Formats: sequence, structure tokens, C-alpha cells
Amino acid sequence: MAGRTKTVPFDSKEYWDERFSHEDQFDWLLSWDTLRHYLTPYLPSQKEPILHLGCGNSPLPFEMADAGYKRIVNVDYSACVIDKMVQLAQGYDQLEWLTADCVQDISPVRIHAPTYAVVLEKSLTDCIACGDDDQLSRQHGMARQIASIQPSHGLWLCVSFSDQRQPFPPYRLLHKIPVLVPQPNDKPGAPDIYYYLYVLQKTSDDLSTI
Ligand SMILES: C[S@@+](CC[C@H](N)C(=O)[O-])C[C@H]1O[C@@H](n2cnc3c(N)ncnc32)[C@H](O)[C@@H]1O
Repeated sequence: MAGRTKTVPFDSKEYWDERFSHEDQFDWLLSWDTLRHYLTPYLPSQKEPILHLGCGNSPLPFEMADAGYKRIVNVDYSACVIDKMVQLAQGYDQLEWLTADCVQDISPVRIHAPTYAVVLEKSLTDCIACGDDDQLSRQHGMARQIASIQPSHGLWLCVSFSDQRQPFPPYRLLHKIPVLVPQPNDKPGAPDIYYYLYVLQKTSDDLSTI
């Protein structure tokens, strides 16, 4: 339509299914190489399971496995991408894969571990926020789902392009860490760009009131 900008429907599962049908690998926002320095202080011992939500077709879990992490449970609601990643990950016994919707029902992740002290997601909240309503129901819903599989004081590590993210109950913000985006050094004077690591902590086990 003339004069209107066509926005990408990042909140649509159909969009992701179609994209993953022809895209093999893509790393959103920041690579493990840049993030590892920021994430490592919050990650558990290399033997404990890490829950990686909205994994898409990112190389991140492979790079974390190469760095020594022994159990990474990767989740996406697109069965198409999970099928592809299972094939790609042959030989990576450290990586487990699962289809689940992080807003509607995350409980299938219990198949792999009863709880996860650390949940990691890169640009999943960005997608969820895209389709949110005035009450931010989708972000509230995802916080409830994540809380349901975390122990008390569990950490949710959220990597986002936005400097406007906020915690939803039962999480509180521990740290908001700007991460400088590496850029090719071919534009002298170009402004620095930052993305953000939000370190959120679960504050309550009583999910009945939120
Ligand atoms: C912007 S991509 C980021 C992919 C990957 N984390 C990365 O950094 O390259 C967002 C991912 O979240 C997934 N996703 C979106 N909404 C979801 C939901 N409700 N439950 C599970 N996965 C979801 C999409 O299928 C997509 O793989």
C-alpha cells in the first residue's frame, strides 16, 4: 500500500517457520565470541543444564559446547528449525532440542531437567514484545512460564537490542549491561552501537498471585 511501511511480523510463528524452511544459520544481535565475557559470570558450572530459549538456527549453542558447556537444552516453537538443528547437531551430545512455546506452555522442558538455575535467551523477548498488547500480556506470560521451571533465585539472562526492557513478576532486574556491538572499522566517526544484557532474578516461588 502506497505510503505505508510493511513491518516484519516477528511475532508470527508462520513467519519463522517460512524463514527457517530456507535459512540454515543466522546469529541475531551478538555472537558468543562477544557475549562470553559478559555471560560467563552468570552461567552455572559447565556441567549444569542451561536452558536456551528461542534458539532459532543460531550457532551460539554449538560455540558454547565447544567452550566446554556440557548440557544446553535448546527450545524453539518452530518445529521446522528444531528438526533442522537436530540434524546439524549430530555428534554434539551436549546439545538437546525441544519444541515448546515459551509464552503458552514451557513445561515440555521438564523432560530434560526438573528446573533450570539459568535461562538464556537472545532476542526472544524482542520477538515476544513485537506482538504485545497494552498490558504487555505476552511478556507477562513468558515471565510466568519461565518462573515455573526455575528454582528460587534462578537467573534469566536476556540479550536484547532494546534499552527499554523491564522485568516482569516474579523477576527483578539485577543488572542492565550495555554491550558494544563490534562493527567493521570502515566508517571513521560512525557512532557506537550498544545492545543490552539484562540479568533478571526470580524473587518469589508463589506464582498464584501474578
Ligand atoms: C530473533 S530470533 C533469535 C534466534 C536466536 N536466539 C539468535 O539469537 O540468533 C527469535 C527466535 O525466537 C523464536 N520464538 C519466537 N516466539 C517464540 C515463542 N513464543 N516460543 C518459542 N520460541 C519463539 C523464533 O522462532 C526465533 O527462532
